[in-house]
Amino acid sequence: MYCVRKVDKDLYWVGGSDHRLALFENIHPIPRGVSYNSYILLDEKTVLFDTVDWSVCRQFLENVKAVLHGRTLDYMVINHVEPDHAACIEEVILRYPNVKIICTKKAAVFIRQFGFSVDGEVIEVKEGDTKSFGKHNVVFVTAPMVHWPEVMVTYDTTNGVLFSADAFGTFGALDGKLFNDEVDFERDWIDDARRYYTNIVGKYGPNVQALLKKAGKLDIKKICPLHGPVWRNNLGYFLEKYDKWSRYEPEEKGVMIVYGSMYGNTESAATRLATGLVEKGMKNVVMYDVSQTHVSYLISETFKYSHLVLACVTYNMKIYPPMLDYLMDMKALNLQKRTFALMENGSWAPQSGKLMGEFLDGMKEMTVLDKKISLSSSMKKYDISSMEELSDSIIQSMK
Ligand code: FEO
Repeated sequence: MYCVRKVDKDLYWVGGSDHRLALFENIHPIPRGVSYNSYILLDEKTVLFDTVDWSVCRQFLENVKAVLHGRTLDYMVINHVEPDHAACIEEVILRYPNVKIICTKKAAVFIRQFGFSVDGEVIEVKEGDTKSFGKHNVVFVTAPMVHWPEVMVTYDTTNGVLFSADAFGTFGALDGKLFNDEVDFERDWIDDARRYYTNIVGKYGPNVQALLKKAGKLDIKKICPLHGPVWRNNLGYFLEKYDKWSRYEPEEKGVMIVYGSMYGNTESAATRLATGLVEKGMKNVVMYDVSQTHVSYLISETFKYSHLVLACVTYNMKIYPPMLDYLMDMKALNLQKRTFALMENGSWAPQSGKLMGEFLDGMKEMTVLDKKISLSSSMKKYDISSMEELSDSIIQSMK
């Protein structure tokens, strides 16, 4: 059965949500599911903006047919070729063989590279090109590396709708609620939105900044992303988040303690540090077990907080492997501008703190506090003063 939503005059959402996929990109857990958004404009010409993932293809095709209501499909704008959006291109062409594809030159290459059979007309567009579909005129704005090189966004100058591709997307199935004002975004969605942004697009902050600069010149009334809610009011809230995330600025002054503990001793010391921080007035403290928390959540929280404490054991004379994985992800995603405090543990040759410090030295604009804690198997009374000095040093660095 078709299931569509009206987005604007002449514009309909024809996507679908998947609750069954466990891992987005086969990496990131999505316990709340994910939506794949697609939109149809009914003008003198009919226009589809992107397709969907294979998992919701059948639903999508029913939706397309229902909205077209006997009309044919004239154009298919492909803003992004990643298969979670482009998987159904061939299925659309099979049903509407005269459809013309509009995309960037790079996207045309990718479409063929993925093996999609496209025999009809492909109109390649570049930055600033325009197209009229009748009443609606659109302009194509390239957005390379947000999140792939072929990406563009499409702005409808007639109604102010921005088809933003992956930008402004989020994990989470829609469950009938399409618009941002139909959900409590700050309560229920922001954590998944941050986790989506930081893990999927986080590496490309400068490219997102470039897109935000271009978007700033447009009179945007609605944002139609490829995942998650459509934004029809309070756009500034989400634009501000994107601006902050893409500049790698923390959202909150606070301390995230990430610990790797084999038998509970490092965890115990980390808890002692957290307690000291709270007693000294820094109440915005969160703790994560690096072995128990999927790294996508750790990355998301790392983008949120200003200060990090990394506490872990030495393992095979190296950094504890789950901590190293987290650090490598952090580096791959280009995270910057954070302050770190380090705590190492070891029973005969503790050196994870030294190694973590060296790792962080290789990253951009990371500050590592001089004061470090080195534990021998477990925290003792004689470590209390060092721990006090470390919490003082963290609090001092926040001023
Ligand atoms: Fe949602 Fe880059 O694809």
